[in-house]
Amino acid sequence: MTLSVVILAAGKGTRMFSEKPKVLHQLSNQPLLQYVINAAKKLSPLNINVVIGYESELIKQEFSKENINWVIQKEQLGTGDAVKYTTPFLEGSQTIVLYGDVPLVNINDLKKLLKISENKLGILTFDKENPKGYGRIKRIEDEVVEIVEDKDCSEVEKKIKEINTGIMCIDTSRLIQWLSKIKNNNSQKEYYLTDIVDLAKKDRIKIETYKAKDESTISGINSKVELIAMEKMMKEKKNAELIAQGVVIIDSSRTEIRGSLTCGSDVEIDVGCIFEGDVKLGNNVKVGAYTHIKQSTILDDTTIKPYSHIDTSEVGQKNNIGPYARLRPGAKTKNNVNIGNFVEIKNSEIGSGTKINHLSYVGDSEVGENVNIGAGCITCNYDGLNKHKTIIEDDVFIGSNSQLVAPLTIGAGSTIGAGSTITKDTPANQLTLSRPKQTNIPNWERPKKK
Ligand code: UD1
Ligand code: CA
Repeated sequence: MTLSVVILAAGKGTRMFSEKPKVLHQLSNQPLLQYVINAAKKLSPLNINVVIGYESELIKQEFSKENINWVIQKEQLGTGDAVKYTTPFLEGSQTIVLYGDVPLVNINDLKKLLKISENKLGILTFDKENPKGYGRIKRIEDEVVEIVEDKDCSEVEKKIKEINTGIMCIDTSRLIQWLSKIKNNNSQKEYYLTDIVDLAKKDRIKIETYKAKDESTISGINSKVELIAMEKMMKEKKNAELIAQGVVIIDSSRTEIRGSLTCGSDVEIDVGCIFEGDVKLGNNVKVGAYTHIKQSTILDDTTIKPYSHIDTSEVGQKNNIGPYARLRPGAKTKNNVNIGNFVEIKNSEIGSGTKINHLSYVGDSEVGENVNIGAGCITCNYDGLNKHKTIIEDDVFIGSNSQLVAPLTIGAGSTIGAGSTITKDTPANQLTLSRPKQTNIPNWERPKKK
């Protein structure tokens, strides 16, 4: 079996009340269409054809890294019309049609559908308690005879609970023939893809169905209400999975996982934390309340104290981070590092045993082992035009409220006196000071109030 994938995504999604095309709306940190593209790729198809129309350039741009054949549907004249635009590109024995706004499609269901529909027409169906709005699967003695769109249903047909999910798998050469025969003589004056059922019957091609079991896997997103409900459902599921694996999530209604969170053993997550993108927490990691971690790795035995922000960073073992610490992209700490309150680290490596405990900015730096950076120290990495690097070698002690004007190397073991502005490299193992000597004025009197 060889396969082409068609993903329908030309709609604007009027009920989203947004200028953004529907399939670009984010679900758990990813656009809706990304989920469907990911599912399609797992089927190892010959090609993936995505039919777009509304704001097509925006969509192409968003997925510029994907290997997609973009097909523009000029006017939205129905699902049959949309698929017709892809016919010049369809290859292989089978074609599967997916919807760009049905993000949680189940890959196993798709594989089963592919299997039963070789040389045939396969339809993914679902028994829906409230089938309103969907095409109904009409059967006579078990055989599918028609898919009737909701708007074309008789009172009796309206009661049918088995619905067309929209996902179909079709013999490619038959599909191409049938698409040219679809007409729009229905209540919506649309070209219905579902009319191929009738054409298959006329050609004596067997129609197979496979019934999905989990409603979320066939649910389309049509409104923000549905989008937010799906986000909540996914979040609850991820929380429940982690708790089942032994993670202590103090209150799962107050933990947001927007992406994938992987945890080792004995991990504890306090309330109000947000995890975005791919986040990995090692064994015995504790995450304090109201912490935001994005696209980062935290190694074993590290504690993140409350209100910390960690973005695109790598935190080593046995670190103490926060409270109120900010690790910006490119921050990398080795083991036994302490980063305290109101410390910002950007694009810098911090060596083992180093402490930066209060009110400091470290950017574009290489900091060695067992360094102590006192309160209120700043690496002045930016001259207004260019960024420069600061190197702080092992065992350095930087006194509080010092400024290190990059580019600069602070030699191993050197001590910088508090309140210094350092503009030149410092020698190893010496005390370097750059502040006026203290003067005392005896018998000085404070001004008196007039
Ligand atoms: C369609 C099915 C219906 C099924 C339902 C499942 C047809 C005729 N009907 O209904 O049986 O129960 O899906 O949700 O196929 N699209 C385009 N171009 C178009 C029209 C639609 O790209 O010209 C895309 C939309 O962006 C959307 C998908 O196709 O992603 C489905 O379109 P929608 O209008 O929601 O389908 P329905 O007609 O409601
Ligand atoms: Ca729909």
